[in-house]
Amino acid sequence: MSLQTQAPYQVLCICLGNICRSPTAEVVLRHYCSEAQMNIVVDSAGTSNYHPNKAPDQRSQFHAKQRGYDLSTLRARQVTLADFINFNLILAMDLDNLSHLKRLHTQAIQHYGADQVLAKLALMSEHDPDYLKQALPDPYYGEAADFERVLDQCESSSQAWVVYFQQHLPQVNN
Ligand code: 4NP
Repeated sequence: MSLQTQAPYQVLCICLGNICRSPTAEVVLRHYCSEAQMNIVVDSAGTSNYHPNKAPDQRSQFHAKQRGYDLSTLRARQVTLADFINFNLILAMDLDNLSHLKRLHTQAIQHYGADQVLAKLALMSEHDPDYLKQALPDPYYGEAADFERVLDQCESSSQAWVVYFQQHLPQVNN
């Protein structure tokens, strides 16, 4: 039995719409962190507000379900400046998302002060040897193979993050 005394490390996954890539990344990363018994909380949001409070895209839900991931209870939301004080790590799915987040990070520091802004920014694929620093391609106008690619890449990158957390964040290992 482990007695949890530390606050969890908080990770936020970001894409454009928060209905395809980042909800998939949220559930897959949560799965691998939980399997490794890590004290990590995972959430997701979008840089846009195109789909407020919408469930993930049916195609994302369908392909995820085939691998055992349930996305059905998630609801889309837009990233906020407060996320930069509440989350330790914010993961961008592609380079457009990352540059958007860099602008918001600057605004968050102006708004809250640098001492309050915890969040570090990185790509989802930052440490993934199989997709190193590659964008997670947007499947929204794509087909089945594009949704499978999202899952493949989320699984690969999430496993790489777990290894990174095990090596760099000893406090999250139960
Ligand atoms: P996501 O995919 O960023 O992976 O959630 C998209 C979802 C919706 C739109 C674009 C991308 N859209 O233009 O509505």
